Amino acid sequence: MISFEEAKARLHAAGQSHVLQFWAELSAEERSELLDEISQLEPKELLEHCRGAVAAASRQQSADAGLDARMEPVAPEFIGSVRESDKETIQLWDDEGLLQISQNRVAVLLLAGGQGTRLGVSYPKGMYNVGLPSGKTLYQIQAERIQKVQELANLKHGCRCTVPWYIMTSEFTLAPTEKFFKDNGYFGLCPSNVVMFEQRMIPAVGFDGKVILEKKNKIAMAPDGNGGLYRALVDNKILEDMERRGVEYLHVYCVDNILVKLADPVFIGFCVNKGADCGGKVVKKAYPAEPVGVVCRVDGLYQVVEYSEIQPETAELRDPKGELLFGAGNICNHFFTRGFLQEVAKNLEGQLTQHLAIKKVPFVDGEGNLIKPVKPNGIKMEKFVFDVFQFSKKFVALEVPREEEFSPLKNADGAPLDTPTTARRSLLAQHYRWVLAAGGNVLDEQDKPIAPKHRCMAQNEDPSAICEISPLVSYFGEGLEKLLKKKNLKSPFYLDVNEANNILQTT
Ligand code: UTP
Repeated sequence: MISFEEAKARLHAAGQSHVLQFWAELSAEERSELLDEISQLEPKELLEHCRGAVAAASRQQSADAGLDARMEPVAPEFIGSVRESDKETIQLWDDEGLLQISQNRVAVLLLAGGQGTRLGVSYPKGMYNVGLPSGKTLYQIQAERIQKVQELANLKHGCRCTVPWYIMTSEFTLAPTEKFFKDNGYFGLCPSNVVMFEQRMIPAVGFDGKVILEKKNKIAMAPDGNGGLYRALVDNKILEDMERRGVEYLHVYCVDNILVKLADPVFIGFCVNKGADCGGKVVKKAYPAEPVGVVCRVDGLYQVVEYSEIQPETAELRDPKGELLFGAGNICNHFFTRGFLQEVAKNLEGQLTQHLAIKKVPFVDGEGNLIKPVKPNGIKMEKFVFDVFQFSKKFVALEVPREEEFSPLKNADGAPLDTPTTARRSLLAQHYRWVLAAGGNVLDEQDKPIAPKHRCMAQNEDPSAICEISPLVSYFGEGLEKLLKKKNLKSPFYLDVNEANNILQTT
């Protein structure tokens, strides 16, 4: 712990002496909490951070006017498509991916440090239950998909492999996530293969360049964005852990996509076969103005360009096949080799762009009263995980069908898009498609068959039949025929491992 004098000197050097303005009123415990917080802030970095934030905020109006002219789509030879490839090609990628998994060379890395402000719950988003028949949370679904993909590799290659699960958390999410995993027995995974680590927090800054106090003894801090990953990997010696385990390939993903295929063998195999050091899954943009980031090249380097950064005319450009020229929508599913991550984390992280977010940040006024601002008063700076694409020596993109792989939980129910309801519907509609493809007959409450033509694929209404299949039974629809073919299944229908075993024993 640093002394009061040292804290004072540090803050003075960073132009932040106001942080100690309530010192005389603080209890011993509050003082030590504040000193602890200050001890983690390096004065020079803090000064640069505050100045940089103000400078970025004053520059924000001036968008990069020439960007559109410098943009090019992903080169066709570096883009693959699950939708357009034949079965044999997909099988080839799948085989390669499972082989790598079987050799313990693949890990997954979850970005779970966000505050989930739009969803608006007080606990980490991964603990959210979207209302599936099983009541499973996002974390449980993900844990079970890891178990299943390990099992698929084991069965194919006669091994006992591990896909380690690295989970990046933040001050907000670490303790509740750890407790949730412990309380739930790590959802059947071995605790030593679930590695949680914490990203850094950085202060929110007012337009006057002063850090904001959210309490008399507490600076308003926020996680440094999902691109904080690269510093966090170094801070927590995660790359060393990967090396010790022999991990060569990482699948990095966001916590909120209910359809995420963890360690997806097809994606891993595609990237490995192409000799990529960095890759991204993309979905076709639904319409030109859809507010998703687009994977493309700018000045020859790969990057994600936000919709708001380009002119509408550019967003509407089409290729000779009539597809949107800049239609590769980023879904935050990335592939990195460990070597690439090592290079980025050790040597290039400092070059990553700081993105600006102007937010309403609750603060204490000069009298110590907590104020909830009605208009934005604070600057938060964030790095983005995909900003490292520019450093790739061989970048590839894999286009996947949106309805099978992407349905994020961003907003609370009531919002038009990306809510618990849309996430639940996406998963249930997918599992209904799997049941039908496996030859199952789904019956309604009166035991009448539900006609497949009434099945629902859209997110704006519930599917006509409710079918949920545990990831422990099927990772992505495989292996269901022997369980469900010609079987009458009453909706709502939940197929877990016990039920699957019962079916096998009775047939
Ligand atoms: P979002 O940008 O959607 O943010 O994060 P969020 O925190 O989940 O939600 P809002 O914007 O506050 O409503 C995309 C992914 O990046 C992770 C999130 O946990 C999510 O998986 N993330 C975000 C981090 O890991 N760290 C951060 O600092 C920010």
